[in-house]
Amino acid sequence: MKVLVAGGTGFIGRVLCRILSRRGHDVTAAGRSPPATMAGAETATLDVTDSDLIDTVEGHDVVVNLVALPSHVDPAGQSHDAVTRQGTEHLVAASQVAGVDRFVQMSALGVDSDVETAYFAAKRGAERAVRNSDLDWVIYRPSVVFGDGCAFLPFLRRLSVARVLALPGGGRMRIQPIWVDDLGEMLADGVEDDRRTGETYELGGPDVLTLAETVVLLRPNTVVLSLPMELSALGASVAAYLPGIPIGRDQHRVQTLDNTVVSNDVAAFGVDERNLHSLYEYLGG
Ligand SMILES: NC(=O)c1ccc[n+]([C@@H]2O[C@H](COP(=O)([O-])OP(=O)(O)OC[C@H]3O[C@@H](n4cnc5c(N)ncnc54)[C@H](OP(=O)(O)O)[C@@H]3O)[C@@H](O)[C@H]2O)c1
Repeated sequence: MKVLVAGGTGFIGRVLCRILSRRGHDVTAAGRSPPATMAGAETATLDVTDSDLIDTVEGHDVVVNLVALPSHVDPAGQSHDAVTRQGTEHLVAASQVAGVDRFVQMSALGVDSDVETAYFAAKRGAERAVRNSDLDWVIYRPSVVFGDGCAFLPFLRRLSVARVLALPGGGRMRIQPIWVDDLGEMLADGVEDDRRTGETYELGGPDVLTLAETVVLLRPNTVVLSLPMELSALGASVAAYLPGIPIGRDQHRVQTLDNTVVSNDVAAFGVDERNLHSLYEYLGG
């Protein structure tokens, strides 16, 4: 099949393109600044904030939409709503006109929780656009994704460089990290398998860890202190008004929510959660 992976030049996208190519598909990886060459894929320039994406989408059987801004961060000059919700609407519209057979949408765990952030609201709007379309669709909501090139582990390493780290609520928030290659195989199944149509999959890895435990796994002997949630909320409110500081109220709000699955849909892919690659193994523990 001819598969367009919007956001295929990013962390998850590169792995998915490699897997799809290995499975015999013709893959196009698209982003605003694609590299001239990429293993396993042609590359194309695409900005989903453009309202007319037909030229890029035309000729593909399947569109995978991985485009998003980093979660719960508002980089200057861009908004989650414009890139994620509206960008998805643009891709869906072009896919309908182009007669695309299947649309695979990347969402995130927590989108329908009662914690409200601009990232979650935009992801929900994007899911709505996909569900309301005439396309055959499948939606993925993973927990935190780890692997070579991820942003999450280097971010925690930077935070804990001094070996003493104050986290909101002592870092009690729980995550269920999933390895990017394990997720990539499940995304590739969604590209290929008609039985996935109309499904929304909530996916996590084999371990549930608190943020504090993850920090200690990355940097043993780090002392994690507890920043009272009220103080963290106040700090985030102040930071929201300071230029150049990429944290704000959304970063605080999301710390109040566990990023774990209630029931792990990896089983729908014939996978036993316990056989997935764990963060402990990945870090050589
Ligand atoms: N990583 C995680 O832990 C995690 C967890 C849950 C869900 N997700 C979701 O998984 C998806 C992929 O995440 P990721 O970690 O691979 O992100 P990433 O590395 O930041 O990749 C984002 C991709 O989107 C492209 N992009 C950004 N803005 C664009 C625009 N306006 N038009 C077209 N392309 C654009 C980027 O390329 P350019 O910058 O060159 O445009 C890049 O290819 C996202 O939807 C994310 O919300 C990720």
